[in-house]
Amino acid sequence: MGEFVVQGGRRLAGTLRVNGAKNAVLPLMAASLLADRPVFLEGVPDLTDVEVMVAVLRALGAVVERDGDALTIDPRPVQGYAVPAELMQRMRASMFVLGPLLARMGRAEMVQPGGCAIGERPVDLHLHGLAALGARVEEDGPVTRLVAERPLRGADIHLAYPSVGATENLMMAAAGAQGETHIQNAAQEPEIVDLAVLLSEMGVTVRGAGTPLIRVVGRAGPLSGGVRHAVIPDRIEAGTFLLAAAATGGEVVLDNALAVHLPGLLEVLREAGAEVWSPRPDAVALAAPETYPPARITVQTGPYPGFATDLQSPLTAFLTRVPGMHTVVERVFENRMGYVRELVRMGAQIGVDRRVATVHGGTPLHGATVVARDLRAGAALIIAALAAEGETVVQGAELIERGYERLADRLGALGARIARR
Ligand code: UD1
Repeated sequence: MGEFVVQGGRRLAGTLRVNGAKNAVLPLMAASLLADRPVFLEGVPDLTDVEVMVAVLRALGAVVERDGDALTIDPRPVQGYAVPAELMQRMRASMFVLGPLLARMGRAEMVQPGGCAIGERPVDLHLHGLAALGARVEEDGPVTRLVAERPLRGADIHLAYPSVGATENLMMAAAGAQGETHIQNAAQEPEIVDLAVLLSEMGVTVRGAGTPLIRVVGRAGPLSGGVRHAVIPDRIEAGTFLLAAAATGGEVVLDNALAVHLPGLLEVLREAGAEVWSPRPDAVALAAPETYPPARITVQTGPYPGFATDLQSPLTAFLTRVPGMHTVVERVFENRMGYVRELVRMGAQIGVDRRVATVHGGTPLHGATVVARDLRAGAALIIAALAAEGETVVQGAELIERGYERLADRLGALGARIARR
C-alpha cells in the first residue's frame, strides 16, 4: 500500500489548474459506445478510474488511444457485452456501459458491484429504469444480465431518488432507444449537463438536463461520432484545493474552476472568514486569514444543487481549523463518516452519531499515521495533514489517486511538503 508523507504547517500559496472532471469523463467515455465513428474527448484527467474505464472499453472491443489529456475512442469494433468482473470490482462506475451496450447490442452483463466503504450502494434504480426501456433483467448468482429482444423504446421513468449514475445510464440508453423518454426526479449535477451536451453533439435531442425532468428523444441505430468534446472542470477537485488552502491559512487562484458549480462551499468558506472571488469567469480565488474567528457552521449534504457529499469529508477536515461547534450532516450515503476516527487520531475533536458529525473546531492537529479507506476520506486526511504540526503518513495513496492526479507534485507547487512513496 502506497502512502503520502506530509510535513504540515505550511501555507499553500500560488496558482493551480484544475483538471477535467472525473465524474463527467467516465459517463462520457461510456457514451462513446453509442457512436458510429470515433469520439474525441479533451481535458481527460490522468487517473486510475479513467484507466479502469479505458480497460472496460478495450475489453468490450473498442480502440482507445490516449495522447496527453486527449482520448480517442473508436467504438466500431465493439463485440463484447460483459463488463469483466475484475474491472467491475475495481470501479462501480464501470456499470455506466450498461445503458449504451443495451442500446447498441441488445444485451449487457455485469457482476453486482456490491457495497463499498461509504455504504451499500444498490443498483436498483439503474435496473428498474433499463427494464422500463424494454430490457429483461436476469439475476444469475452474482451476475446480472440485461437482454432486450427488441430495440429499446422510450418510456416515462420516475426515479425514487435522484441518483447521478442511474440518471446517466438511463440518458445513454434512452439516447439509443426509439422514441421519447422522460426521466423524472432526475439528478441535476453539472456532470449530467455535460453528458447531455455530448449526446446532443452526437445528434440526440436532450432537453432539461440540469433540472429534475430530462427529456431524451432517442435515435435507434448508432449516433453520430466524429465529435470533439471538452470535459467540464472537476468541481470536487476545485473544492478540495480550496479547502486545503483555507485549512492552511493560504492564498490560491484556481484556473479552470467554475464558482457556479460550487453551491454551498463558497458560502461556507466566506462564513468562516475566508475571502473567495472569481478573478475571471473560469477561475476561483481564495485568501484565508491566518487564524479564523469563532463561528458556528452547519452544513448538510444533498443532491445538487445541495452541498456535494464528495466534499463532506474535506469540509470537516477544514472545520477543525475554525473555532466553535460545527455540525456536518451526511444525507446522501449512509456510512460516510468513517474517516472521522482518523482525524481524531490527529488531535481533532469530533463526535459522530451515525450521519452527523459535531466538530469542536480550533484545536491543534498533530502528525500521525492514518489510513484512507476511500477516495474523499483520503482527501480529508491530506487536508488535515497539511494543516497539522509535524509529519503525517497517509496510507492508501492508491485510493486517493483514483480522483486526484499527481497530487504531491501539484500541492508541492503550492508550497506543501508532500511526498508519495
Ligand atoms: C456519483 C459520483 C460520486 C458521488 C455521488 C453522489 C460518479 C462516478 N460518482 O456516484 O462521486 O458521491 O454521485 O453525488 O459520478 N442509490 C440507490 N439505488 C441506485 C443508485 C443509487 O439506492 O440504483 C443510492 C445510493 O446508495 C446513494 C444515493 O442513491 O445513497 C446516491 O447515489 P448516486 O447518486 O447513484 O451516486 P453514484 O452515481 O454512484
